[in-house]
Amino acid sequence: MSHVKIAVFPVAGLGTRFLPATKSIPKEMLPVVDRPLIEYAVEEARAAGIEEFVFVTSASKRAIEDHFGAAPELERQLRTARKTAALDAVSRSRLPEGSSTFLRQDNPRGLGHAVSLAARLVGDRPFAVLLPDDVIDAPGGCLRQMVAAHAETGGHMVATMTVDREATRAYGVLDVTERAGRIFHARGLVEKPAPEAAPSREAVVGRYILDPAIFRRLATLRPGAGGEIQLTDAISADCENLPVSGFGFDGARYDCGSVAGYLEANLAFALSRPELTGGTLDMMARHLARHQTRGAA
Ligand code: G1P
Repeated sequence: MSHVKIAVFPVAGLGTRFLPATKSIPKEMLPVVDRPLIEYAVEEARAAGIEEFVFVTSASKRAIEDHFGAAPELERQLRTARKTAALDAVSRSRLPEGSSTFLRQDNPRGLGHAVSLAARLVGDRPFAVLLPDDVIDAPGGCLRQMVAAHAETGGHMVATMTVDREATRAYGVLDVTERAGRIFHARGLVEKPAPEAAPSREAVVGRYILDPAIFRRLATLRPGAGGEIQLTDAISADCENLPVSGFGFDGARYDCGSVAGYLEANLAFALSRPELTGGTLDMMARHLARHQTRGAA
């Protein structure tokens, strides 16, 4: 039984790196193979025992709400046409009635601000935050692995992966005091440090389990890196009074906030689908050969 029942999905970003694709549809609705990006994070949350889903959205994100609701007309047509697989896919993506809430973040003031908007809904409970741009393929799901570890540590926990020193400037980075298996005890975190100033190479990936004390911290926090209210800064400030740890999850993470990472996720998930593996490998071999011939010419 999971002790974390509610999750927050910050989905208010503009998706500028994917323009013009994201001019009229939310970035979170771009497909990885045949499921929208956001569905991977929601599935992962469900696998971890999450029962309440809070989406922090902005203008033009209606499609996300529709995606997780019922589609009675579509379902009726698929049933009549006996398209069972398609019907299953459509019904599986529906969240139980009453389990989701959509909140608006009208001013883009940063991830910390987005999370703070869920304070009243979360109340005095530990909660998860999932950044859907980070698509994670992990046995049982990354969040589920974290929930098990968090049952032991309590406090704030972030998913981490080891990155090259040069890459630290793109992440929140842990100041690690001690490692115990997959758990990295931390005395602080720094958002997007210059490589020479990075306290370690353990970088934050977009999965968090947070103690509700974070809301008090976020309420008084000043803007940090990029002039935004940073979730990383709030977690770091709480190191004084709460255990804060990183969890080096077992799995692969794809950065779908970048076009290259998004393409890689499509390839990786296509390869992991038995009905698509052969065709995808053939296609890759063809393109590789063509590319090499071109390079040699
Ligand atoms: C956010 C967080 C950062 C974290 C990253 C993981 O940054 O602020 O700490 O390492 O997600 O993807 P963003 O990529 O939104 O700039």
